[in-house]
Amino acid sequence: MTASEWDDYAAEWDDDPAARAYAAAAFDSLEKLLDQHGVGLADARVCDFGCGTGLLTERMVDRARVIDAVDSSGAMLAVLDAKAEANGWANVSTMTVPGRPATPYDLVVCSSVCGFLEDYPAMVVELVSHLRPGGLFVQWDWEADEGASEGDGLARSTIETALSGAGLESVTVGVGFTQDYEGEKMAPLMGSGRTPVG
Ligand SMILES: C[S@@+](CC[C@H](N)C(=O)[O-])C[C@H]1O[C@@H](n2cnc3c(N)ncnc32)[C@H](O)[C@@H]1O
Repeated sequence: MTASEWDDYAAEWDDDPAARAYAAAAFDSLEKLLDQHGVGLADARVCDFGCGTGLLTERMVDRARVIDAVDSSGAMLAVLDAKAEANGWANVSTMTVPGRPATPYDLVVCSSVCGFLEDYPAMVVELVSHLRPGGLFVQWDWEADEGASEGDGLARSTIETALSGAGLESVTVGVGFTQDYEGEKMAPLMGSGRTPVG
């Protein structure tokens, strides 16, 4: 989908119970993963890539030091900007493409976006290059068969290959959470890995 096609979803995105449930469940699984890795969200520098209207951003905003919220849809970002202004989220910056941060990120999260990217492995390489040594990359996507079409999700092997190919260590891919979606029990995948230290 193009950025302008995503624009059409922006005004209604926050009213979609499925989108809200997905972000809430992704955040719960993120907290567990951070605990496992001994990485704190407090004071963390975070990139929320494919942030949309910021449903995941808003769950991290009280604890993170900085959140760079990246989305190619200007309309999605406009919704997030309005929420940031209304709530005084001074630590949130929005941008349409990922820029190299002055200080590398501790955490990059990609919630339900990687399956929509034209060149997913290349974007992982770019995002991982913005992480500090020992930084954590995390993504959530619908599970799909190998070679699935854009928007259908990603196969476990595709995620494993992309994350390992980007140089991440301790790569894991598994069910992140379960969610009822359009009458079906869905089990989105969560993939994660850490940048090497030293
Ligand atoms: C399914 S929505 C998920 C939004 C948000 N992460 C959430 O969970 O509510 C996918 C988002 O990815 C964004 N997106 C798609 N391709 C992108 C790209 N190449 N760069 C940045 N964002 C992209 C879309 O604009 C859209 O907001």
